[in-house]
Formats: sequence, structure tokens, C-alpha cells
Amino acid sequence: PVAAPTHTSDTPSSALTHLAGKRRQEAIFNLPSCDLIRFLGQGMVGTVVLVRERATGTFYAVKVMSLQNVHDREQERNVQLELEIVRNCGAHPFIVKVEAGYQTREAVVLVLEYVSGGDMYNLLERHRCVSEDALRFYLVELALALGHLHARGYVCRDLKVENVLIDGKGHVRLTDFGLAGRDADGCFDRSGTPIYQAPEVLRGERHGRLVDWWALGVLAYFLLAGTPPFYSPNDDEVYRMILDGACEPKWQGGNLTHASACCRDLLRRLLERHPHLRLGSGNSLGRPIADVDEVLAHPFFADVSAEMGERAEALSPT
Ligand code: ADE
Repeated sequence: PVAAPTHTSDTPSSALTHLAGKRRQEAIFNLPSCDLIRFLGQGMVGTVVLVRERATGTFYAVKVMSLQNVHDREQERNVQLELEIVRNCGAHPFIVKVEAGYQTREAVVLVLEYVSGGDMYNLLERHRCVSEDALRFYLVELALALGHLHARGYVCRDLKVENVLIDGKGHVRLTDFGLAGRDADGCFDRSGTPIYQAPEVLRGERHGRLVDWWALGVLAYFLLAGTPPFYSPNDDEVYRMILDGACEPKWQGGNLTHASACCRDLLRRLLERHPHLRLGSGNSLGRPIADVDEVLAHPFFADVSAEMGERAEALSPT
């Protein structure tokens, strides 16, 4: 049976050992009580598979991070932070739930709730782009998830369409905190997917939670336009576009023809190159609020209603 998360350690070195002491599971993909159904995805250090618990018929997504791989890629600190985040932030409606965590001789294993509707990348494949109403719905849920992480001192640093799962009713679940950081420490390194990188990350500056609001702007543009705001097959060209603004996203016409002025204003404020002026910084709307409160105070979210949830359900495949 799947047990509640057992990891309670605070230091990087002891987190994994602590898990090891709590529970050992020798056959990595072969949870004795579950049938392996299919492969779901591959990350930098983790492989995710779908399993079904025999006794209950419940599906779980099992993320297996090989210790060898974690070691070879020097990801010990990232895995430790991921475990810490799922422990501290898991109880949120728009963040994927972790049912259990343990370590075998070969791997760290996270047993996650199975989110059945695929990810936002699949959604874009099916629909090419989404309506402004659907966008509003997704952004509210993602903003609340990011605000929850930020309030607990973490920065996601890897928000992208592939890391947003959609459940059977069309609601989102943010997943994969393998690149997350602590806001207070300030992060320096470039990590994550090129098209989502904030300018301050590319400039090598100390950065924090505002990079997530930039990434939300990239994701929002991508959902609405069907193409990312800064795109080239050449990563250096992408970085140049993000940094110097030589190639501004097409705010008018093109793929954003259907966007309202209010929606374009939201995208522009999220994709503000100066982090201290970006929406979420506390300096964008001229009101004494910051982070998620400032983002959701933007007029684009003025008439958020429960009805939007029903419309998003219509986009859900299940
Ligand atoms: N892919 C990665 N994590 C997943 C999850 N929890 N549910 C479904 N697919 C996934």
C-alpha cells in the first residue's frame, strides 16, 4: 500500500539517508502492490511511470530518480530541495500531490497522484491556442500555485507548459520542482528551458521569485498565441531576443489579434525586462501589494468567476 510521505529531514545529506532508513523498496519500477501500466515521461534525473495499485485499482504516477544519475549530474542539492518542497507545499489544490516518498538502494522514488488530462503542451497540440477566458482560468490557478510556493520561500524556476498537468476536470497541477530554489538565498545559475528564462537570469544576476512571474508571462503568451514570445531554433538567438528586445513579441495583430488590450497589458507587465518593475514586484500597479496579490489585482482578472471552470472543463480530454 502507498504510505504517506515519510521524509522529514532538513539537511541535504541526511534527507536521502533518512528516507533510506524509513523504507526500502528493492525493485524500483516493480512496486510489489502495483502493476506497471506505461511510461509517462523523462526528466533530467527522473523517469515517471504510470502504475495501478492492485488492491484499490488506483492509478499513481511514480517518479524514479536514479541515485547514480543524481550523483553523475550533481543534482543532490536539487533532489533534496524537491523533496523539501513537496513536503512543505504539497497540500495545495493546484500543486501535484505526493502520496509517498522513499529511497531504495538505487533510487529516490516519489509516488505522485496521477493527473489524467496530460500536460499543457498536449493541450496546445490539440487546440493550437486557447481563448482569453480559458487563459484567465489557467493563469489564476497557476498564479495561486506560484504564490503558495513563494509564500513558503521557494522559487519554481522551471514553469513551462510541460510542467503543468491538467486533471480530469480541467484544473491545473503544477509539477516538477527539480530546478527550484530558495528565494532568500537568491539564485545565480542559468537553469531551465531557454525560452522561459528571465533577462536577469541570462545576465547572471542574483534572482528570485520574480523569474516565475516572467515565466508565467511566457507561458501565457504561448497559450494565447500558440507560439512562444521569443523563439528561434538557436538558443543564443533566443537569449538575444530576451535580453536586448531587438525582436519584441508581436503585441498587435499576428497571433495575438484576438487578444484584448487588457490581456496584452497583462502580458507586457509580466514580460517586463526590469524585475523591479515587473508585475509581482510590488511596483507595477502602484498599489501596496506584491507577488501573487499584485498579479491577481491586474484588471485582466477583474471578473474571475466559477463559470470559467466549466468552460475549461470543455477543453479537458477526459
Ligand atoms: N507526468 C509527470 N507527472 C505526472 C503525474 N503526476 N500524472 C500524470 N502524468 C505525469
